[in-house]
Amino acid sequence: MSDLLRAESLCKSFGKVSAVRDLSLHIERGEIVAMMGRSGSGKSTAMHMLAGLEQPTSGRVLSDGRDLADLDEDDLALWRRANIGLVFQAFHLIPTLSALENVAFPLYPEKMRPKERRERAAIRLEMVGLTNRAEHRPSQLSGGEQQRVAIARALINEPGLILADEPTGNLDTETGHEILELFHQLRDDAGVALLIVTHDDEVAASADRIIGMKDGGRVDA
Ligand SMILES: Nc1ncnc2c1ncn2[C@@H]1O[C@H](COP(=O)(O)OP(=O)(O)OP(=O)(O)O)[C@@H](O)[C@H]1O
Ligand SMILES: [Mg+2]
Repeated sequence: MSDLLRAESLCKSFGKVSAVRDLSLHIERGEIVAMMGRSGSGKSTAMHMLAGLEQPTSGRVLSDGRDLADLDEDDLALWRRANIGLVFQAFHLIPTLSALENVAFPLYPEKMRPKERRERAAIRLEMVGLTNRAEHRPSQLSGGEQQRVAIARALINEPGLILADEPTGNLDTETGHEILELFHQLRDDAGVALLIVTHDDEVAASADRIIGMKDGGRVDA
């Protein structure tokens, strides 16, 4: 099976609210999949379950045939760190750290010499074209630059899959276009797969597939 990640009949309820219903999907190595649907259709909830951040009410998420529900909290964190890069609409950078330090941040749980940490982060910053902003703090960066830092951070452990929840939602059209080009470059150069939640027709048009969401379930075009 060449699936990176597979979801089978995922359901998630919050009290009486059924946020996701019977959602099945799979992501293959090196593909770009767009997830689209109206506000409240369950896209973020689905992403959180795929990342193991939220437990499904029923159904399961499989990674390499392993059910995430069988992992304890520590193993789940290790799995996420090794396999998944997360990118959000709000960039969630740490304001007191430089761009380079933000990118290096996920490496801290590992024993590593500071020099190696910085070198690894520098390589990722170069991938997103921000070598010349390494020492800037987030407040000294544009929105697009902050998102590129967040993407570099998501790439630090060389995940096979990036889950991005409206990554261009806070950016102007032109800057959003640059982030989209970066995603394609990552796919083409590093074989990274991406699942991108988006309202942006340009992002959707450039994807290999589109997963449509409505009322918590799939309605693919
Ligand atoms: N923690 C929660 N508690 C209760 N209800 C929730 C919770 N999280 C989400 N919901 C509800 O579940 C539904 C799906 O929410 P979700 O955030 O997944 O939608 P979305 O498709 O990401 O929307 P948007 O495009 O606005 O980000 C919504 O009706 C929402 O109100
Ligand atoms: Mg959402």
